[in-house]
Amino acid sequence: MTQFYFVLTNVEAESILKEEIRLRYPEVRLSYSRPGFITFKAENQIPFNPLFCRVSGVCQGRFKKSELLFERAWVYAVDEKLTLPQDLKELSDRTLFKKGETVTLIMMLSQDEYWVGSYLLLSHHFQIPGEVSSILEKDVPSRAYYKMAEAFEAFDLPFDHEEMVLELGAAPGGASLFLLEQDLKVLGVDTAQMDPVVKKNINFKHLKCPFETLTEKDFKSNVDWIVSDINLPPTVVLREIYRLLGFLEPRGLILTLKINDLKHLEVISTVREQIKKFGFKKVELKYLPSHRKEIALIALHS
Ligand SMILES: C[S@@+](CC[C@H](N)C(=O)[O-])C[C@H]1O[C@@H](n2cnc3c(N)ncnc32)[C@H](O)[C@@H]1O
Repeated sequence: MTQFYFVLTNVEAESILKEEIRLRYPEVRLSYSRPGFITFKAENQIPFNPLFCRVSGVCQGRFKKSELLFERAWVYAVDEKLTLPQDLKELSDRTLFKKGETVTLIMMLSQDEYWVGSYLLLSHHFQIPGEVSSILEKDVPSRAYYKMAEAFEAFDLPFDHEEMVLELGAAPGGASLFLLEQDLKVLGVDTAQMDPVVKKNINFKHLKCPFETLTEKDFKSNVDWIVSDINLPPTVVLREIYRLLGFLEPRGLILTLKINDLKHLEVISTVREQIKKFGFKKVELKYLPSHRKEIALIALHS
């Protein structure tokens, strides 16, 4: 039986998502789409979990406003300039979905265009319709602040007081600022300048060098976490991460893998197994609300 699926993604990632679908789900065809909202059609039901989206699920189709007779549903305006009708806003605000429950999601595309989808609420989902960031905007050195905050929230990262983070590609310092706010110490590696707010923090140290030149001698003690946001192809970043794991034993990795070329998608299909070889039991990939052409890889020893 024909089955439709919906995807909510960030506009910057749409080309990557379509290539991922072509590679991983060759039986699926592109159907109706609008910026940030894409539907696909399959001849039969399939397990459909693309990576390059905030959320995906089964699509029940287009509804008239008068047909939206749900007792429980989340409602999301795909275009942020739209204002939700008061009754739908109230429905969404009073609806709570627990992990493991099936979310009914009403997606508003214009004043008179509504689509309905459903998906299983998993542990790495946010409690927010449309899986957008709940982190309040503030004056930070870069967007990487939000990426790190979202990874922390989605994976409930078990940071401990004064643990040491090696951050590769740390400048100007958004992610470092978030890590310092969590009471961590940061050794930031970057050839570029750090933001003064980060630089003056006594728990931050800048190693102004290419990350490829790091050796065992650069580390007086072990590091507890390795974070990377280096804007180089994932093959290059992962090669260096594997080299560093030859002499560092972090309890976790938080890597942003940049997909600036569609050919980089090949790496994504094998990276989980490669990382597990270093003893990391849990390895997850998640497209975060503040991501553009990139994805987070989170690896934890336990
Ligand atoms: C996306 S930015 C990082 C943003 C940063 N994480 C933050 O929180 O503001 C990528 C960074 O990677 C750095 N980078 C690129 N190649 C590098 C290399 N070979 N060694 C060290 N840093 C590098 C760039 O200088 C740039 O600052």
